[in-house]
Amino acid sequence: MSNDLFSDVNSNDTLISLTASLLNKIDDFVTEQESEQFCDDIKTVINFHDNQYYVKSNSLISDYDYDRLFKKLKELEENFPNLVTPDSPTQRIAHGLNNDFPTVQHLVPMMSLNNSYNITDLEDFDTQVKKALTQQAAVEYIAEPKFDGSSIALIYQDDRLVRAATRGNGVAGDEITLNAKAIKTIPLKANFSEYGISKIEVRGEVLLELAMLNKLNEDRKKQNEQLRAENKKELDLYKNARNTAAGSLRLKDSSEVAARKLDAIIYQIGYAENAAGIDITDIFQTHNKNLEILEKLGFKTPFHEKKIFTSILDVETFCKYWENKRDTYHFDIDGMVIKVNSIHQQQLIGKTSHHPKWAVAYKFKAKQAFSKLLNVEFQIGRTGAITPVAKIEPVQLMGVEISSISLHNEDFILDKNIMLNDTVIVERAGDVIPYIVGSVPEKRNGAEIKIQFPTTCPSCQHALVKPLEESVWRCINTNCPAQLEEHLIHFVSKQAMDIFGFGEENVRTFVANNIIQNITSIYTIDYDKVRQLEGWKEKSIQNLKDGIEASKHNELHRLIVGLGIRHIGSTTAKLLAKKVEKLSDFQTWTQEQFTELEDIGPKVAQSLFQFFGDAENINTIETLSTLGVNIYKTETTLASEKLSGKTFLCTGTFPQHSRDDIKVMIEKNGGKNLSAVSANLDFLIAGEKAGSKLAKAQKISSIQIIDEATFLKMIE
Ligand code: IVH
Repeated sequence: MSNDLFSDVNSNDTLISLTASLLNKIDDFVTEQESEQFCDDIKTVINFHDNQYYVKSNSLISDYDYDRLFKKLKELEENFPNLVTPDSPTQRIAHGLNNDFPTVQHLVPMMSLNNSYNITDLEDFDTQVKKALTQQAAVEYIAEPKFDGSSIALIYQDDRLVRAATRGNGVAGDEITLNAKAIKTIPLKANFSEYGISKIEVRGEVLLELAMLNKLNEDRKKQNEQLRAENKKELDLYKNARNTAAGSLRLKDSSEVAARKLDAIIYQIGYAENAAGIDITDIFQTHNKNLEILEKLGFKTPFHEKKIFTSILDVETFCKYWENKRDTYHFDIDGMVIKVNSIHQQQLIGKTSHHPKWAVAYKFKAKQAFSKLLNVEFQIGRTGAITPVAKIEPVQLMGVEISSISLHNEDFILDKNIMLNDTVIVERAGDVIPYIVGSVPEKRNGAEIKIQFPTTCPSCQHALVKPLEESVWRCINTNCPAQLEEHLIHFVSKQAMDIFGFGEENVRTFVANNIIQNITSIYTIDYDKVRQLEGWKEKSIQNLKDGIEASKHNELHRLIVGLGIRHIGSTTAKLLAKKVEKLSDFQTWTQEQFTELEDIGPKVAQSLFQFFGDAENINTIETLSTLGVNIYKTETTLASEKLSGKTFLCTGTFPQHSRDDIKVMIEKNGGKNLSAVSANLDFLIAGEKAGSKLAKAQKISSIQIIDEATFLKMIE
């Protein structure tokens, strides 16, 4: 008996009568031969009732009978341990503690979403989508809530849940399979094989119902009464559903996870393959069908919340409708997600390195609260920038307590007319960092004091400067200890070298104890000194050593980010990492060469030119190299050899892809990019506004002039 056709009425009837027949014979003596079938049937009906109850909010069995079945299953499994299977409902709660959550790679990266806030943004999205599809193709949009929880990726292999992971950095996350199994809305078994899928990664959000959050807090309050009576430390209340859900996924005890009654809503098929290992992610052709099938296989999905539209104006109306009812919905949602329904169109539209271009998040409006500005602290960033930080009377905003907010710079304070002791308006939209909208001058009572910006660095007392055209005051002392620390914290951080076991606290301690003095010293740490520090044992030292060692083999873009060059984030770093054989080669580049790179403006080019023109920086890079850190180009693995031996040059602008994207495609398929027209050139890909290069190429008969579509066919 399979347990997949949960939504099929006939099959419901069959399962209900199977339940009755099992209950009838439950106390009969069961022989060893009979137990296998009996056990299988009990598992099937329990999984069915779990799905009815937790996913469909439908109770078809009394608690009493459910418990009898569950107890019987446990008893049989204890008597005949070989009958225990990973998808048995008894396996939802692991025995013993779950001590570590190893890092695992996602089958394909989990991306972010681009945000939109109003109809203009949505219209822009609509225009971009249609432009990418070139022809006057009809587009269907599907809009569904944006659940504010903790993302999760579940892998089913041969119909069984084999792995669950958190999003992590999008490429790799923490493996939390045992805890995911404790979530009743995650099926342990789902009949994907019925569709010829042998391996699949589905994605969604782990959530805590708001009523459950309140209940957990009520329980904690009761526990606290007891703790108070015993003069013991009280427990903190859970601040909001999202953090509680995220925290729960990392609990060591999965019975504790089960007690929190989390939910999982699945909204995407990340990857699917058939038994031959062929990618069939697009098998159901539309997002709507994906949801329908997932729902049918026992997952909780936004199938009933979603709606399909052909006009972006109607999408907006639907988003507004949800915005008004968000407070009465049983989960926290911070917006809506709008997706192109057709998976084929999604693939045509493509993605950036950060988000798919076929989807957008419509963020609900921020919520506001009033508070009082108590103090302003001045913090020094990695680049010496001084940032004023407002310390306010703690306020709750959308479930999060806020007491500290950046005021950006001096001009911001002046513009917003903010004074100490002022009443200020604080705003927060979902994930967005809280923000001070302004002060409320009508509430002033004379106790307000002007905010004095410092003239010297709060760390090293060096005089501050304000570079031309900037609104930020900076400390330009390169030996300023505060900057060094921030610089090193950035270097080891996740977005840069991602050195496992080397967090902010460690950097601060190591700097304070003179164990590290600059970036290169990270690779020559004297571990005897570390051993003498409090709290460091052989195991943690080994972990740190391993983390540092592993970082030597990072792809080049991580080092580029880690160097902390102004204006250089990970996207630009990835672009740069492919442009030279080794990083120090940039020392010969002119500012113009940097400017010629696509997406690099004059400010960024200047910053790169200044950085790589500095002998000391080149020295740092070369020292890192002698210490074993990778400074070599990121090699792209070939997608095909279809263009092998052929040379290309792109000119003008193209309907579907950027020039840089096309250049990458050329290299990925074995071709070579040339920078000028010559007799060595095989193909000129000419777009709109192609100028002198086209004219020149037309004069050389051996050069084939093609358009983007022809090029795309060549690599199909
Ligand atoms: S689709 C990147 N659908 O929002 C495209 N995401 O800000 C795949 N999220 O990391 C995601 N509700 O964790 C999608 N209905 C929904 C969603 C949703 C919440 C989360 C998801 C993602 C984040 C991006």
